[in-house]
Amino acid sequence: MAPRVLISDKLSDAAVQIFKDRGVDVDFRPELGKDKDKLAEIIGDYDGLAIRSATKVTPKILEKATRLKVIGRAGIGVDNVDIPAASAKGVIVMNTPFGNSITTAEHAIAMMFALARQIPQADASTQAGKWEKNRFMGVELTAKTLGIIGCGNIGAIVAERGIGLKMKVIAFDPFLSPERALTIGVEKVELDDLLARADVITLHTPLTEKTKNVLSAEALAKTRKGVRIINCARGGLVDEVALRAALDSGHVAGAAFDVFGVEPAEENPLFGHPNVVCTPHLGAATTEAQENVALQVAEQMSDYLLNGAISNA
Ligand code: MLT
Repeated sequence: MAPRVLISDKLSDAAVQIFKDRGVDVDFRPELGKDKDKLAEIIGDYDGLAIRSATKVTPKILEKATRLKVIGRAGIGVDNVDIPAASAKGVIVMNTPFGNSITTAEHAIAMMFALARQIPQADASTQAGKWEKNRFMGVELTAKTLGIIGCGNIGAIVAERGIGLKMKVIAFDPFLSPERALTIGVEKVELDDLLARADVITLHTPLTEKTKNVLSAEALAKTRKGVRIINCARGGLVDEVALRAALDSGHVAGAAFDVFGVEPAEENPLFGHPNVVCTPHLGAATTEAQENVALQVAEQMSDYLLNGAISNA
């Protein structure tokens, strides 16, 4: 009997086709990402579950997943899956660590320019007919110091782009070897050094017990006056209340956030500040990246269900 996979989030059609081509039965039910009761009702019929970020795979769902063998996350972060509960049931959890890295790095760079030249604010003002030419004095990025917290796949691409923009790039990442730092062209530094030197700080680390609030009130107090802060990684890495206070006092010149402590973010301490730019977790939202992660997750899950081959678990 062919294995059965349920896709419970909005995945590119490419994934459905791959599963079919590989001989896996697939049901595309993206509405289930928001309907946990229905998901719990039918999950027992499936060997594989393919998701993005909307589906929350809780112990309750896993309890009903009597034949589930694999969960495939089309994307990087698996924080919407209860990994200990999945492991306890012998369910493999795999992600696609590379498919959306470039796209996410590009979003961070776009945010950096948006902050440096206040593009969203200038757009709103111009389209309101105000022509406030004197209000929007920007800063040049050339020769500024870009501080990267977390220099893995995405951080390294941001570093490469930053170097291309003639910025001085420094990185804090305990896992970054001196050889890799040399290859990328960044200076490996300690966190306090990065905080003291960076004109722009961008975060590219997962949220773990160690990285939670890495930009705490205390850390923010160590940054340079006029620093700009970008978070396109995970909500919870920055203390949003402390950052708001630092923006209000003028110590932090601007912040661009794509991710928030609570998502969907209908309200947030950063909202409404004139020097804040926000997007709704769009880091990975390009057609190219979504196609990449959908193809990768479908291939990886098919490999596992048909041949027992494990990748990116
Ligand atoms: C990821 O973890 O891959 C990104 O945050 C994108 C997403 O969640 O859609």
